[in-house]
Amino acid sequence: AVLVVRRVRRRTRWNRVLGVLKEFEEACSTSVGRLRQVVDAMAVEMHAGLASEGGSKLKMSLSFVQKLPSGNERGIYYAVDIGGTNFRVLRVQLGGKRSAIVGCDAERQSIPQELMTSTSEDLFDFITSSLKQFIEKEGRGSELLPGRRRDLGFTFSFPVKQTSASSGHLIKWTKGFRIEDLVGRDVAECLQQAVNKKGLDVRVSALVNDTVGTLTLGHYHDPDTVAGVIIGTGTNACYLEGMDAIIKCQGLLRTSGVMVINMEWGNFWSSHLPRTSYDVDLDADSPNPNDQGFEKMISGMYLGEIARRVILRMAQESNVFGPVSPGLSMPFNLRTPLMSVMHEDESPDLREVARILDDTLGIPDVPLKVRRLVVKVCDIVTRRAARLAAAGIVGILKKIGRDGSGGITNGRTRGSSDSNMRRTVVAIEGALYTNYRSFREYLNEALVEILGEDIAQHVTLQVTKDGSGVGAALLAACHSSNIVDRDG
Ligand code: GLC
Repeated sequence: AVLVVRRVRRRTRWNRVLGVLKEFEEACSTSVGRLRQVVDAMAVEMHAGLASEGGSKLKMSLSFVQKLPSGNERGIYYAVDIGGTNFRVLRVQLGGKRSAIVGCDAERQSIPQELMTSTSEDLFDFITSSLKQFIEKEGRGSELLPGRRRDLGFTFSFPVKQTSASSGHLIKWTKGFRIEDLVGRDVAECLQQAVNKKGLDVRVSALVNDTVGTLTLGHYHDPDTVAGVIIGTGTNACYLEGMDAIIKCQGLLRTSGVMVINMEWGNFWSSHLPRTSYDVDLDADSPNPNDQGFEKMISGMYLGEIARRVILRMAQESNVFGPVSPGLSMPFNLRTPLMSVMHEDESPDLREVARILDDTLGIPDVPLKVRRLVVKVCDIVTRRAARLAAAGIVGILKKIGRDGSGGITNGRTRGSSDSNMRRTVVAIEGALYTNYRSFREYLNEALVEILGEDIAQHVTLQVTKDGSGVGAALLAACHSSNIVDRDG
């Protein structure tokens, strides 16, 4: 009788865990119908954000980039790139012909955790010290010609209100950064001052969001590129918009031509998003509640944390993970790269899953059946994220009339079916997309599902390696004061 009671209890607990899983899976549902609603909402919000300042949670920030590099740019240009887990300094040599990047040296280092919440002085000292070392290591032959300064593109990947292609104020921090004294200040000017203080002969010629850098490099290689997307620590997109559709700057800027618009889609919100109680709690516990709702469902900073919260709930509901471990209770203790390793563990006994649960979350000896459950949680989290990102991309295509449906521009419906069928390239970068195969596959699959095969075959997602940094160097070339180099 005792054995029977135990077995029944065990089964009840197991059923409770399955209940948690089922409830989570249902709440994360991304049927193609729901994704299409997200697509529509994205296109509508884009429109609202372009109509007036503050018209939508989508900022639709002006980048003041109205001309992308022609390909004639020549010379050596620099970039510093900050905005996620890593910091980069780059030197790019342009050969004066399209796609002629003759050389590119980059140095990468991870950003010390304490810097993310320090002072602007510490931040700029870190950036300029790295830049100085980088320049000092340059070989012979890269000395400047008399009268020339080094032009530098500054990739700063946070919401900025640009005042020109080379200046702009930080609106707010995202992705766990919090350096209060920089909010509201011109970040390019701050960098220029710090550079001057170090005695470097460098001019900050372009202030660039990482998405804009990615679009710029994508377009340099392939002029059919219309948008740039980042899916890494954070997520965001930019695209080429007709000036006539940017209602909020009519009367201020000329109305012909195009401009790159930095959407800041991380802050997109719609009631159609499949939000769960775990998302609500994650948001409430974050340093920026009610902000970056889309980003918190999609990007690398958060996916592992969502999974951890679901596993924690399972552990609390039953004893299938043994007693709740301190490692499992610790916020952000399951980083997304580790989550992806568990998700993609192909060993028959899910050895990697067991190892990570033990080493990182402090849960030893997890039975195979429970390891499978963990893989399923990772799968649900990643699938939802990737499919939502795909819906975001189609939202852009819809807005610019490249989704096969005609699209909306400036309130008018436009586009013949011919123009809808034009080859369309989206430049994409970020570790989540490039390093996480399942994420990439789910995203691409959803794109085809939403668009249909006929339209999807005209759309290419092109990985644009180092786009955020190299693209900033290209834009520095466009805005160089060394006219001879710039014009080739
Ligand atoms: C965050 C930033 C945004 C950036 C994105 C990707 O969403 O606010 O500016 O482009 O992360 O790095």
